[in-house]
Amino acid sequence: MIRVTVELPGGRSYPVLVGPGVVGELASVLPTGVRRVAVVTQESVPVEVDPGVDHRVFRIGDGETAKSLSTVEELCSAFAGWGLTRADAVVGVGGGVVTDVAGFAAASYHRGLPVVHVATTLLAQIDAAIGGKTGVNIPEGKNLVGAFWQPAAVLCDTTVLETLPEREMACGLGEMAKYHFLGGGDLGGGDLGGGDSGGLTLEQRVARCVQIKAEVVAADEREAGRRAILNYGHTLGHALETTGRYDLRHGEAVAVGLVYAAELALALGRIDDERVAEHRRVVDGYGLSGSLPAGADPDELMAAMGRDKKAIDGLTFVLDGPAGVEVVAGVDAGVVLDTIEAVR
Ligand code: GLY
Repeated sequence: MIRVTVELPGGRSYPVLVGPGVVGELASVLPTGVRRVAVVTQESVPVEVDPGVDHRVFRIGDGETAKSLSTVEELCSAFAGWGLTRADAVVGVGGGVVTDVAGFAAASYHRGLPVVHVATTLLAQIDAAIGGKTGVNIPEGKNLVGAFWQPAAVLCDTTVLETLPEREMACGLGEMAKYHFLGGGDLGGGDLGGGDSGGLTLEQRVARCVQIKAEVVAADEREAGRRAILNYGHTLGHALETTGRYDLRHGEAVAVGLVYAAELALALGRIDDERVAEHRRVVDGYGLSGSLPAGADPDELMAAMGRDKKAIDGLTFVLDGPAGVEVVAGVDAGVVLDTIEAVR
């Protein structure tokens, strides 16, 4: 088992436990004195937990549609019906939808209960469950309502990943590829099946990604600036997802977005050909495609990128460069459009 500590301003911190069987540590990471636990999960999540205290399971629906204010209302009503109090805790068991919803319900109910996340997908283990972002979608957009609510602990059980469907795994691998360029050069070239794996086990890889994210979150808990680098590869990635026309999972879209961001940085003179090739190698090493899906429409993608939450001052991207990956505002629209052809 590997233990990573997320250090936060004000002397706050919490542990992230990574490894096979760490779900068994749940009782030991609950805050002291917790009397009862509301376990929030989904029918499709094949993981049972034992918090070691009186608990009740509350199931939410599957998919992004479950990430709604009405789900949070239903959960909070059910918590109230059971008589959950501030002496109790919430445990979210699942992927990003569960950790976002359970986290937001925990942040809101009685103005805040402790939450522990048991992350059961690779994406949740290396991204969604770490760093305290919680929230839901509204018809106007994804994640537009939410709160920063740091968990008391996160459990990343790597045994659970063995049964993860292939595309769900791909979803996490796109995020893992991202960390290679955020200080994770030691992750190797990708390729979990050996080869250029940097000699790391899956457990070590998950822990390394958690550690990188923890460092970024420690420096900028509420995304006043630097935390936005965690969105590397996400501008085009989100655009591909929000058009809703391509059958791409989040990580698959991010993989294309990473290669696109590298090509854009090259076009802007920020990095050289070799660094672009490295992006392509890493994405390829995880078995992901760095090319746009067939029929991708550049005008539609441009419009979607213009609506990106980061785009306060013209087209805004997270780009690699001499000083590393950083947020760059006011990127020339003509270059952005032309570069789309580089990832066809
Ligand atoms: N997923 C990006 C972040 O947590 O900031």
